[in-house]
Amino acid sequence: MQAHTHPWARLGLGERPIFLAPLAGVSDHPFRRLCALHGATLTYVEMLSATALLFESPRTYGMMDRHASERILGVQLTGKSADETARAVAILDALSFETIDLNMGCPVAKVVKSGCGSAILRDPKRVYETVKLATEATGKPLSVKIRLGWDRQSYSYLEVADAAAQAGAAWLTIHGRLRCDDYSVPVDLERIAEIKRKLTIPVVGNGNIFSRADAVYMQERTGVDAVMVSRGALGNPWIFRDIAGGDASVTIGEWRDAVLAHLKWQAEAYGLTSGFAAVCMRKHLLWYVKGWPGAKKLREQLSHIESLEDAGALIDAFAAGITASGETLRLPVTQEQQEGRFVWDPKYEMDRKLDRGVGDELMSPPESASI
Ligand SMILES: Cc1cc2nc3c(=O)[nH]c(=O)nc-3n(C[C@H](O)[C@H](O)[C@H](O)COP(=O)(O)O)c2cc1C
Repeated sequence: MQAHTHPWARLGLGERPIFLAPLAGVSDHPFRRLCALHGATLTYVEMLSATALLFESPRTYGMMDRHASERILGVQLTGKSADETARAVAILDALSFETIDLNMGCPVAKVVKSGCGSAILRDPKRVYETVKLATEATGKPLSVKIRLGWDRQSYSYLEVADAAAQAGAAWLTIHGRLRCDDYSVPVDLERIAEIKRKLTIPVVGNGNIFSRADAVYMQERTGVDAVMVSRGALGNPWIFRDIAGGDASVTIGEWRDAVLAHLKWQAEAYGLTSGFAAVCMRKHLLWYVKGWPGAKKLREQLSHIESLEDAGALIDAFAAGITASGETLRLPVTQEQQEGRFVWDPKYEMDRKLDRGVGDELMSPPESASI
């Protein structure tokens, strides 16, 4: 009987799945393919707004594009109410996704202002109703991603996690920070462990996973069933190979091939000559060269690229220069991330607004729409 089958076995995820988080403005199919190629077992479309889905926003439908080579794909949703969320889940149920996640942790102001994301954490009853109606609206495994609570006066993780599990969530992902926390706040492993001890459904740990050592540490300290990687995959799709126990070091040849593959897939997805494709690619390119010694000029050039072809030529020439110098390099960004110095650069917010971030218009119906 399906209800007794482990949800990850049902999805064919294997013993120790490694998740790539839904990442707004980032986890489109070119990036997901690269992560899957290097060992991510489950990847996600970036967070969608239930409101936008119900109003058939073309941009939202565009965000759901899937590449034919993607074997297992999840989609993530956030909604203003239990009813709205369930109606949007019913739409997703009919589309080609293997699993659906409900976002109850997004801290972005415009998202919480409309009652979505981590706003839901303040109301465990609403969590229960939302998950209950949503699971009734789909035959696919439905999971929930939460934070620990709203602020230090309102840690709601135990009530919220319990409500989600009681209502039928297939698993729970916990980002071990509060809504009010920024990335400088350490991930609270003790509280993640507490959730894991209380729940019988699988628990996925999230927050500050930048290397295999981080993943092992989180698993040992908390007992979580799997980890979800977020910032750790930016510019470093090899992190999945590393976490799975493979080679953590990346040669210049591997680096070059991966960046060029990303550019090729970006061109296939959005068009080789599309300025949009190039603008969306800038942040990835800057992540790929973050930390490279002698790459100051390259970084400057990549931050302004107008075409994918120009970007490819710059990457190629840079890699050729390093190879000619006889250096066999280990990807410096990995070292930097292992030391935990990787921070989200607010200047990328600009790119997110330009490209595929969750915009205000997606959180509320178009003015002309009637309900
Ligand atoms: C660029 C970016 C976009 C994100 N978009 C989403 C999203 O769409 N859905 C989601 O659940 N979390 C999103 N997050 C949050 C991450 O999934 C994750 O919970 C958080 O970054 C903590 O993990 P980390 O410390 O490993 O980065 C995003 C984070 C970043 C940096």
